[in-house]
Amino acid sequence: MKVNILVGTMTGTAQLCAQEMELALDDGETRVETLLMDQLDSSVFARDGVFLICTSTYGQRDVPDNARALFQDLGTKRPDLSRVRYGVFGLGDRTYAETFNFGGKKFDDLLTELGAKRVGERHKHDASSGIMPEETALEWCKEWLALL
Ligand SMILES: Cc1cc2nc3c(=O)[nH]c(=O)nc-3n(C[C@H](O)[C@H](O)[C@H](O)COP(=O)(O)O)c2cc1C
Repeated sequence: MKVNILVGTMTGTAQLCAQEMELALDDGETRVETLLMDQLDSSVFARDGVFLICTSTYGQRDVPDNARALFQDLGTKRPDLSRVRYGVFGLGDRTYAETFNFGGKKFDDLLTELGAKRVGERHKHDASSGIMPEETALEWCKEWLALL
């Protein structure tokens, strides 16, 4: 099994979560590659394996800056992703009540529109909860892997 973790982040928290998930999942049988979304385009979904979108939310209802190019390319080229399986580990803050976790939601909605199949529920971390997302990430990703 190959897992590609795609990271959308502004200040590094999602990257930290991805590192924790890579450490937890990469055991020889499962191989994990973590890629920052910077400079990725929609062709990344042609890779082998499953995908884990690990992204925060910014700018009221937007994906982080480093995720914009990938998100726009998917929306413009609209590739057929019916062979893609993915999960979403989203980061946000409930203080932004109207747009809570919209970064993960936007990717989830778009990937579904393009035919990809989500595995498991979209995780919505809340920074205002006081729980560290990298702690939740460990448990969540193991449950996610079991569902695959
Ligand atoms: C300027 C700013 C805007 C934000 N906007 C939102 C938002 O609209 N919705 C949300 O759920 N979280 C929002 N957040 C919270 C971040 O998504 C959250 O703190 C996340 O853990 C940051 O992860 P990162 O370091 O990987 O970028 C915002 C944070 C900042 C600093």
